[in-house]
Order: sequence, then C-alpha cells, then structure tokens
Amino acid sequence: MAAASFASSSAVRSLIGPDGPVALAEGVHWIGALDPDLRSFDVIVRTANGTSYNAYAVRGSGGVAIIDTVKAEFAGAFFARLEAVARYDEIRFIVLNHLEPDHTGALPELLRRAPQAQVLLSPRGLPLLRALLRDDFGRYDIRPVTTGETASLGDCALEFFTTPYVHWPDTQCTWFARQRILFTCDLFGSHFCDARLFNDEAGDFRLAFEHYFDRIMRPFRSFVTEALDLLEPLDFALIAPSHGPILRTNPRDYLQRTRALAKARLGAGPEKALLVIYVSAYGATAGLAQAIHDGAEQEPGVRAALFDLEGAEIAPLLDLIEAADGIALGSPTINGDAVRRIWDLMAALAEIELRGKLGAAFGSYGWSGEAVRMIETRLQGLKLRLPEPGLRVRLHPSAEELAEGQDFGRRLAAHLCGRAPARVLDAPEAAAG
Ligand code: FEO
Repeated sequence: MAAASFASSSAVRSLIGPDGPVALAEGVHWIGALDPDLRSFDVIVRTANGTSYNAYAVRGSGGVAIIDTVKAEFAGAFFARLEAVARYDEIRFIVLNHLEPDHTGALPELLRRAPQAQVLLSPRGLPLLRALLRDDFGRYDIRPVTTGETASLGDCALEFFTTPYVHWPDTQCTWFARQRILFTCDLFGSHFCDARLFNDEAGDFRLAFEHYFDRIMRPFRSFVTEALDLLEPLDFALIAPSHGPILRTNPRDYLQRTRALAKARLGAGPEKALLVIYVSAYGATAGLAQAIHDGAEQEPGVRAALFDLEGAEIAPLLDLIEAADGIALGSPTINGDAVRRIWDLMAALAEIELRGKLGAAFGSYGWSGEAVRMIETRLQGLKLRLPEPGLRVRLHPSAEELAEGQDFGRRLAAHLCGRAPARVLDAPEAAAG
C-alpha cells in the first residue's frame, strides 16, 4: 500500500488562519472550527481546554465529500474553510458519522448550498436526520450505509463501518483507503482546543484524551471494544476524530490506549461480586446491610463486600461497581426521600456501563419508607435487573427481620449465580397473614 503523504509541520502552520483550511494529505483538508472558550460540553463534561469541531473535505476525480460539519455557532468558519478548498456544486457526498448537534449544526445550511449532495449515514441516524431536517427531509438524496458499503469519488472511494454507541446509536466511522485515513467522529476524540491541530504539535492532551473517554465513552465501553475490533485491522496511518488533535503520529497507540481504558478497571475473580452499599442514620439500615452481606456470603460462588457510603469516595466506588456483578443500595427514608449520598452515587452511575448487572434496594424507615421504591425506580431507569422486591424494615430490624435480611442476601446471590433462589423465610406480611 502506498505511503500516505501528510502535510509537513511548516506547511500546516502556514495554512492555519482564521478562515484557512489545513491539509492533512493530498486531497484531504480539515475544514472544522475551534472553540477555545467552551468550559462545559453537553452540560456534563468540563472542558478546561475548550474543544474543536473537526470536519473534513476529501477530494477525488469525481467530486468532493464533506465528512461531518460543526456546531451551529461556528458555521461561518466552517463554510469559509470549505469554500477555500471546494465549490458547493462539486460536493457529491455529505457523510454524517454522527448526528449530535456539535457535528450537524451547519448541516441544514450546507444542504441548502449543495442540494445535489447525497447524504450518507448509518441506518440508525435516519430518525435523527428526519427530526433535524423536518419538512426538508424529503427534498434530499439520503442513503443509509452499513459496514463494507462504499461511496465512489471517481479514482478513490470512502468505505463505511457501522460502530454504534461510540457515542450514540447512530455512530459510524469512515475509511479513506487512498490516504489510509480513518475518520472516527467522537471515537478517539479529546476536548482539547489547539490551533496546531496535530497530536505531535499540540500541547499535552493526555489528560483530556482520558477524561474524554471517561465522560463520553465509558458508559459504552463494550461497544467501544467491538468498534476497535472492527477498525483495528485497517492499515491506518492517521486517525481524524471530530474533537481535539488529529492523530498522525503513532495513531495506533491511541487505539491501544482506548482498548485499555475500555477494559474492566479491576480484574474480576472467578466468583460473582455483590457490593452492598448503604447510608445509615441510626444504625438500622447498617444492620440490614450487614445481614444482607452475610447472607450473600453464604451462597457458594459469591463474594460480597460492604461499604458505608458515609466513608467512601464515589469515584473509586464507580470502578468497583463497574467490575461487580450486582449492587444492593440501602438508604433510610428521611423527609420522604432517600438520603443525598445515595442520590449522588445513583446520579454518578450514569457514567459507567451497567448492562446486565443485578440491582436491589433496602432500607429502614419510620413512617412512610419511600426511599426503597425511589432507589428501585432509579436502578430500573439505569437498566439494571431487579429480581427481588426491595426490603424495608420499620425502625431497627428485629432478629426475625435480620434473618429476613440474610435470606434477601442469599436470594440475591443465588440470582447472581443463575440459580433459582430458595426462600428460607416468609416475608413479614405473609407471615402475619
Ligand atoms: Fe461530539 Fe457525540 O458528539
């Protein structure tokens, strides 16, 4: 395969200007936008270094493809750079690797200027594109593409790889074999704005690269691994993501680092791991937590661990939860609610992958006992499976209720091992009845 001819450092510097495109290789230009002042992305990600919205133009003998666009506020810079490398009537394809607004903000206007262009996107991008274009959707030539499909630019072609959930269900990557460039949109991105654009010239963005993975990709890490398996065989010489530095020096290092980040943080042992995490006001919920832990420990093949959230940091707990098979969360009901620390933990759970994990709730209460139901609702919303109804006790658990707590723990452990749980005790209501 012919070696790619990437632009030299001096050529790159000379091309950077307020409206200037930047050459990546012959026929390939960066036409994106810089956003150095951004301090919060998607509301949830802090961006101390700002970010960039990288978009690209690829030219072949049969026309030009535009790969992604930019956030709407930066459309002016995008169009100025585009016009420096292509006429609108030359645009044959508009490739949408991902339809989040930071990459499609300039799309409606681009389509008005290049209505002849065929829009290429993953099938799961269609409903998003329909919502974006609304009444104009039917006016354009829109073609869903999947892995292995290509789009010819005459003497060269683009090839598509469907890579869902890196970051949204619609995400895909685009391969330009002639220059061995892989366009990955959010995957391999960083929220790091540096006008030098390339990884060997930009400032130290290692922290931004890993922070980006943690906040954007981590909830989808098994999908990330599937995408890496699909893309790794490509003989790429440059990775062109849609945020942060373009990876032209040692690009494969970033794939390997991403693969490491996508692995479980802690090695899982042969046993199933159940974490019992609680907050307790007067020791009642703590007693129940201990009983659940002790009961789970009695089930062969399960290792349980107990955490008082009052004494734990949430960030390292997330690593543990991500590596565990199940969690049981306990909170007293105070003022008709679960306590703040439990809510803080449950809010943070959105940052990690929880697919297939078991969840359970428990807690002590005085009057109404809403906390257990609230925890269950949140865990269900996070797509955990809750095989047992939550366990509540009024005030301090009695000896019978502690025994019930142990049975609850045993049943959770049995579910974890895929065994039908045996009920040792009847629930209090049933016993009373
Ligand atoms: Fe950069 Fe998921 O958008």
